[in-house]
Amino acid sequence: IKKIAVLTSGGDSPGMNAAIRAVVRTCAYHEIECFGVYRGYEGLIEGDFQKMDARSVKGIINKGGTFLKSARSKEFRTKEGRQQAYNKLIEAEIDGLVAIGGDGTFTGAMVFNQEFGFPVIGIPGTIDNDIVGTTNTLGFDTALNTVVDAIDKIRDTASSHNRLFFVEVMGRDVGHIALNAGIAGGAEEILIPEEDLGLDRLVESLNRSRKSGKTSSIVIVAEGDKIGKNIFELKDFVDENLEGYDVRVSVLGHMQRGGAPSCFDRVLASRMGVKAVESLLEGKSTYMVGLLNGKMELTPLEKAIKGKTKINLELLRVSDIMST
Ligand code: F6P
Repeated sequence: IKKIAVLTSGGDSPGMNAAIRAVVRTCAYHEIECFGVYRGYEGLIEGDFQKMDARSVKGIINKGGTFLKSARSKEFRTKEGRQQAYNKLIEAEIDGLVAIGGDGTFTGAMVFNQEFGFPVIGIPGTIDNDIVGTTNTLGFDTALNTVVDAIDKIRDTASSHNRLFFVEVMGRDVGHIALNAGIAGGAEEILIPEEDLGLDRLVESLNRSRKSGKTSSIVIVAEGDKIGKNIFELKDFVDENLEGYDVRVSVLGHMQRGGAPSCFDRVLASRMGVKAVESLLEGKSTYMVGLLNGKMELTPLEKAIKGKTKINLELLRVSDIMST
């Protein structure tokens, strides 16, 4: 391997810039060339890439988003699109690819490798933490801190007005952000897709806490949860079936994807970038780098995207006990 390209694809996440920096600098350390690809697979198809050296990535470890930009490419889903991307890589004599992103990014990388035998390594970058083979995806920790900060602020106004707040958080089909941020933010209840609480039990629980003397409450709702899917209907239902609370909804939205990466995500990104490049140099391909038991480990891309992440049952129990 003499020339490596790096791209970010899919939804951005804090720590992607730090990971690009780590890939570029590890290439420089091993004296091989590195190319940054703009706009994910779109840029690969168009040959929109630029040679990077150690100095090209200065001052970005602390920046949210991705300076290479990101896209969800429709064209890369077609055989023609992938053929064009391959031609562009061969023209530039690039012989390895690091793809930073989530399951869509990894699916693209896998198909590309199957068709052309092109060496690829994935770095898991998504706030959702929905990838198997790593305890943390890049950006998850930062998003948690952002959500907890938002909950703390909502709590101030909730308690001043004796209000019940439903706070919707991201996470696509999984409840990792909701469960962790809910515990850290002292939520009354946490609704996640992995556990069906049921509307009756929710109302019962809110009634119980009202009777126990609570005057305000915060319920965290994962966007993928069945009851929470339409959070405004949930609000209307609770308004009608629960006396004594003034109910409000707050949808946190894309602010959860922004902001400076946490210390944890910066260190994780740096470790993942080094491991990704060194794995390619060792001749490995179609693996994802991840953090398992404190160490950098490789997991086949296929397993990373097909496996189901499991909710930590101990955390569920802790959350139940805390809402007593
Ligand atoms: O996968 C990251 C994520 O932020 C999810 O949590 C969310 O469901 C989705 O992306 C939002 O996608 P978009 O930015 O396209 O609206």
